[in-house]
Amino acid sequence: MPNSPGSIPHHVAIIMDGNGRWAQQRGLPRIEGHRRGVETVRTMIDATKALGVRYLTLYAFSVENWKRPATEVGALMGLLEFFLKRELSTLVRDQIRLRTIGRTDQLPEAVRRQLDATIAATAHFTEYTLVLALNYGSRTEVVDAARAYAAALAAGTIQADDNSWESFARHLYTADLPDPDLVIRTSGEYRVSNFMLLQAAYAEFVFTPVLWPDFGPAELEAAVTAYGKRERRFGQTSEQLKPDASR
Ligand code: FPP
Repeated sequence: MPNSPGSIPHHVAIIMDGNGRWAQQRGLPRIEGHRRGVETVRTMIDATKALGVRYLTLYAFSVENWKRPATEVGALMGLLEFFLKRELSTLVRDQIRLRTIGRTDQLPEAVRRQLDATIAATAHFTEYTLVLALNYGSRTEVVDAARAYAAALAAGTIQADDNSWESFARHLYTADLPDPDLVIRTSGEYRVSNFMLLQAAYAEFVFTPVLWPDFGPAELEAAVTAYGKRERRFGQTSEQLKPDASR
């Protein structure tokens, strides 16, 4: 849908970047930045919900993040487990559904157990969905989807002459999720880093120099305000989008 002025994005997706630099600037170990990043996650759940956003996707751990030092990977997994344990009762209280995208079967067992418990306890909520991208990468997502699609073709559950995007998209991790409307990347980097490459085909992007631990409700509101001023054309012309235009 084209934006009307002041539109609130239905689905916000965030590349949370800058935790390490936040810590280094203060002479702290990198993990302190991640710890502070977890508190920003908590704040952003409340802040997006208050604005009327219905889906929040957070890029919490990429397929490529396994290449970091083992101590940092271990600490990130520990923080994830801590976050899930701490948040369970709040997510239930606030009627927030938890979902994941990514190859979560490769995460440590303790994290998987906590994820399964939280997903099961919140599966029936419909107003707001928190999506954690974990062991996620768009390229592996395409590989997984292509395999599932080929299997469905072989089984005859997809017609051989069905060339539609919709049929293929039903095999992505995001099959039952709307595409992101707004993608935010913090920390002054201008990259998409293998994040929702297909789903963000028509998303609006906002890049901010603010490091993730410092990203707060004011920065979120600024990004949403910028989004509200954009004209989303989805391949059409500006003229065609005018309400009285003959198409
Ligand atoms: C990028 O900062 C951040 C990550 C790779 C991990 C993000 C993880 C969290 C915020 C905590 C765990 C998440 C949840 C949902 C509980 P960076 O380390 O690449 O920063 P740098 O570019 O400054 O080094």
